Amino acid sequence: MIKDSNFLRKSFLEFFQKKGHRIVPSSSLIPDNDPSVLFTTAGMQQFKLYYLGSKDPFKDLHPLLNEPLNTLQTATCQKCLRTSDIESVGDESHLTFFEMLGNFSFGGYFKEAAINYAWEYLTQSLKIAPERMTVSVFKGAAEVPFDQESYQFWLKLGFPKEKIILGEKEDNFWGPTGKEGPCGPTTEIYVDGLEIWNLVFNQYYKTSEGILKPLKINGVDTGMGLERLALVTEFPQQSEKTIFETDLFKDLMQSLKEASSLPQEKLLRIIADHYRASIFLAAAGVVPSNTERGYILRRLMRRIIRFEKVIQLKEEWYLKGFEILQNKYRNFYPELDNQSEILNTFFQERDKFEKTLQNGIRAWEKLLRRIGEKKEIPGREAFYLYESYGFPLEILEEMAEEQGKVVNQEEFRQEFEKHQEISRIGQEKKFGGHGINTVANEQDKIKITKLHTATHLLLAALRTMLGPQIEQRGSDITPERLRLDFPFARKLTVSELQEIENLVNQMIQKNLKVEHYETTYEEALSQGVIGTFKDRYPEKVIVYEIKDSDTGQIVSAEICAGPHVTTTQELGHFKILKEEAVGQGVRRIKAILE
Ligand code: GLY
Repeated sequence: MIKDSNFLRKSFLEFFQKKGHRIVPSSSLIPDNDPSVLFTTAGMQQFKLYYLGSKDPFKDLHPLLNEPLNTLQTATCQKCLRTSDIESVGDESHLTFFEMLGNFSFGGYFKEAAINYAWEYLTQSLKIAPERMTVSVFKGAAEVPFDQESYQFWLKLGFPKEKIILGEKEDNFWGPTGKEGPCGPTTEIYVDGLEIWNLVFNQYYKTSEGILKPLKINGVDTGMGLERLALVTEFPQQSEKTIFETDLFKDLMQSLKEASSLPQEKLLRIIADHYRASIFLAAAGVVPSNTERGYILRRLMRRIIRFEKVIQLKEEWYLKGFEILQNKYRNFYPELDNQSEILNTFFQERDKFEKTLQNGIRAWEKLLRRIGEKKEIPGREAFYLYESYGFPLEILEEMAEEQGKVVNQEEFRQEFEKHQEISRIGQEKKFGGHGINTVANEQDKIKITKLHTATHLLLAALRTMLGPQIEQRGSDITPERLRLDFPFARKLTVSELQEIENLVNQMIQKNLKVEHYETTYEEALSQGVIGTFKDRYPEKVIVYEIKDSDTGQIVSAEICAGPHVTTTQELGHFKILKEEAVGQGVRRIKAILE
């Protein structure tokens, strides 16, 4: 029996089915109803709510099955996409898209059975020699104790003590996916030195504030990378082999080599990985764009297209590569049947990027000559390449690194935000002062207007709390949330954030009037009005002012094109979602109105 990837998928699912697990199909790469993550990054995601006890496996419908799970234990082969390892793609074992084999229990079995199953599957079903294996268990950290139980269960199986590594939190504590969710200590299994299987024991819930609370239900969540498993089963103890030589990649790599006049192994691997990931993303309905999921897809596709030129890849390869992927995967993932739509998405993006790529590379080379020996690529210059030639920032960083240089990211970001604001002001002029005419939906307009006023109140509260040096470094408002960046040297404490939130809510509850008047830029500055864009204002400006009617004190005064609400009570309740660093000495707050 050849232990190729088809065999592995099948044998894994059959093994766990025999052990009383229900086999559930892979969910989409785009998580259903989970805004905390862009993509499905682990098999457990479709079961997240069962671990929390907020969904009942015997009563609530499972979205893929259209009936309740009717069990406390399941197994899947799940499509996943992680961008965290994108820099490492091209080495022996890292990927963006991959398949994860996993078994899950939410209130059924726990550590001992999970460890025994993993052991039995690897050593008996797959006949992997125990001598090739090492394991790790969590050694404990401040809030979470040493995972003594897992340690004992491995010993009980006869696993030699000296091959049980005690791991730190970085390696042996997993989750949550996204900002909050189930998580816990892990025990990992290595074969020939490569980590292949991670057994997570969900014992905690991590809140969005980063606090660990014990979960009522003990959960098991395991994840084994199919590509890595294929590597250690197809090539036992051959450390020179890579996942790109397994049956999952072999044909794709071979075809790439044949279609390239200047093949370079690492670039072939990156193209193979990124193309497979792009095809699956496009098949899931993602379209390249400049935000969120679309941006990730754009970044993957543009990287392929850039490297395509370096290895001189024939254009025909893309169709051939697609057919190879389709043959490999269509039995498990029927969405790949949608050939014309998927390839259209790819080729449209390629056409777009190709048009400017050559000119962009010339502009880049000119820039390199201009800056000579200097190590830093100014953010403005990088932004120009981004804006005019469509190079994603990460690609520019990579191009800089190839030259031993770095892009000034902070400056890039400032340019980016300035540009967004300028184009917004431009729109406002074009539409006669009704700044958000371009936002199609009326309700969205109202939400944006409210968040705009809330941004002024937030800035005012920050200045009250942290001092008048706080100014707006960038702002971005969507109908869902506001985002404000400001200079500050450290993380804000939970109580400071609470205080800021309270201050904003107090101003809202006082129902203050929001007024505006026209004045000259000079005059506004002399009155201490805040102007974010320094000397880039026209002579006449509009100032939005919020005054405390009790004290007569000006709470907020900013040069701004509006629009804003007329009274603060319209805003409802203000809530800070997140505070984080976005660069050296720059903090970002995301907040919503409820
Ligand atoms: N959820 C287990 C893992 O991703 O490793």
